[in-house]
Amino acid sequence: MVAAVKWQKLEERCLRCNDCGLASSRTQVVFGSGSLVSRIMLVGEAPGFNEDRKGKPFCGRAGAVLDELLSTINLDRRQVYITNVVKCRPPGNRDPMPEELVACSPYLQEQIELLQPEVIACLGRFSLRTILRFFGLSPEVSLSQVHGQVFTPEGDLFQTVQIVALFHPAVATYRPEAMDGLKKDFAVLAKI
Ligand code: URA
Repeated sequence: MVAAVKWQKLEERCLRCNDCGLASSRTQVVFGSGSLVSRIMLVGEAPGFNEDRKGKPFCGRAGAVLDELLSTINLDRRQVYITNVVKCRPPGNRDPMPEELVACSPYLQEQIELLQPEVIACLGRFSLRTILRFFGLSPEVSLSQVHGQVFTPEGDLFQTVQIVALFHPAVATYRPEAMDGLKKDFAVLAKI
């Protein structure tokens, strides 16, 4: 099967998903968007209000911050692939629950297998812990201690993947002074 067809089939399956309770409260599934041949994958936490309405990741205020951060390293969202750990909005934007993370993980895993990114930028702690676990690394990390760091899983399978720990862009929507730190951490993406 060619890659485009595999992507389409995965998205269709995801759009019909009923594997956790979020299916009953969502307006729509937010599968992901961007370049299907990018070497860079950005993984956020879960759709918010705007994403749930529009079906696109990071299209609200956090998305505007993300666009600004990408522009500081001369990237725009069409050049990267953006998705979330959880594809449906948790009611009231609460944190995703463990069973929701488990139910949704296979979609993210298949997206990674299809894209084969060289760099995975984890936006926020849920994303970082999920991705570290996928690649056999300990998820027991504190984002405030490891933000801006690059993790390189060992083993033949993962030779080319670099995992970057980043604060979630939403931080800057309620703490604008966090923007400088976010920009510094995003500069790591440009470097690698
Ligand atoms: N926050 C996220 O983690 N993902 C989105 O798509 C929007 C806001």
